[in-house]
Amino acid sequence: MADSKATIRGSRSSERRIGILGINLDPVSRETLETLVAQTPGAHVVDNVDRHVTPREVMRLLEEFQHRVCVINFDEGEESARTSQRIRDGCDSSISIFAASSDPHPDQIIAAMRSGCSEYLLKPFQAKQIADALSHIEARQHGRMPGQKGQVVTLMGAKGGAGVTSLGLHLALNLAQRHHQKCLLVDQHPALGDLALCLGMGRHQYSFYELVHNMDRLDADLLQGFLLQHPSGLHVLDSPEAIHAFSNTPSDAIEHTLAFLAENYQFVLIDSPPGLSEDTCAVIRQSDRLAIVITPELPAIHNAIRTIQYLTSLHYPDDSIDIVLNRYSRKNSLSEREIESSLHRQIAVKIPNDYDLVVNAINAGTPIDLNRKSELAAAFDTWADQLMANEPGVEKPDKESRGLFSLFGSKT
Ligand SMILES: Nc1ncnc2c1ncn2[C@@H]1O[C@H](COP(=O)(O)OP(=O)(O)O)[C@@H](O)[C@H]1O
Ligand SMILES: [Mg+2]
Repeated sequence: MADSKATIRGSRSSERRIGILGINLDPVSRETLETLVAQTPGAHVVDNVDRHVTPREVMRLLEEFQHRVCVINFDEGEESARTSQRIRDGCDSSISIFAASSDPHPDQIIAAMRSGCSEYLLKPFQAKQIADALSHIEARQHGRMPGQKGQVVTLMGAKGGAGVTSLGLHLALNLAQRHHQKCLLVDQHPALGDLALCLGMGRHQYSFYELVHNMDRLDADLLQGFLLQHPSGLHVLDSPEAIHAFSNTPSDAIEHTLAFLAENYQFVLIDSPPGLSEDTCAVIRQSDRLAIVITPELPAIHNAIRTIQYLTSLHYPDDSIDIVLNRYSRKNSLSEREIESSLHRQIAVKIPNDYDLVVNAINAGTPIDLNRKSELAAAFDTWADQLMANEPGVEKPDKESRGLFSLFGSKT
């Protein structure tokens, strides 16, 4: 008896693994979706709704499923993106949103991604697109796509106090909560890091550096023991609590550790101390992007120029360096144009100056509410969207390849 129960429960859960809700799909797409989804065991099209649907309704309709998918008709202009955003903001991270569109234009794909879609299904649907998109869901919710390496992004201040910690934690929260990315934030300060404190978390007994020193036995289980878990789902590797800096860390161990972390997360964001120490150079070597955070002040700009010159002389790719202008205000005595011409590059992101909001969030250990409309929140949206658009899987459609454009491809 007990055996048969176990079998029934087992088969039920695999029968009802992935629930799919169509939203405003045309009759042909609806029918094709149902036929093609039926070819994936455990996946079911629950319904198609042709009206305004609330996130609560979506969750209710899909509640019995482990993985929940909304396939939204994206041929309705801005309304489609608004629907996607509403569902993304109001549902939890068990929801995946797919765009269904007859428009293969890259701008449309980017718009879908920005509104929270993880797959772009071109109409008419084909069996392989649907099977691939469904197989990505489970891989993504387990952290990454098969064979995919996450993006390692280092944030470094051109000078102390530029805002690296404040920006890093909000960027990471945006990626984790708005884009549902599995995200790790590393406090790379060899002593006196304040990232965990700013996130309102207790300290960990062990830090990133202890993890690096245990690199030879590093695996997913060991990593678990080093992580601080933020309620948002964000994972954090702490800085050492000690007052004296951790020293004698072999650079190759830092590089290997980061390579391992990139295999386990979609994004690894690093809060680096200012200055190009050996440790930081090792971190930068393993980084896909380096964000140099500046404030609109001459010393910061001067240091940024020197840093870029030094890194490019070491063959760090120039186009992997972003300038992030923090504490931006129209009243700044240095204009954007002046800053850009001194740096010989465009500012990638401008984060507005809002001391009260930022300092109160940090003192309270409660990050600013990124869902509330504010210029600050919008700036983090822009930055996170840029990183998401860098994902190598955002393919440019060509005329021959009508089909699935996964927004999360694999990194080579
Ligand atoms: N966009 C911003 N607007 C106003 N104040 C900011 C902003 N970003 C950071 N700050 C303030 O600047 C100070 C330094 O920020 P912090 O994140 O600790 O910098 P870092 O990590 O580079 O040392 C803090 O007091 C913080 O509240
Ligand atoms: Mg800091």
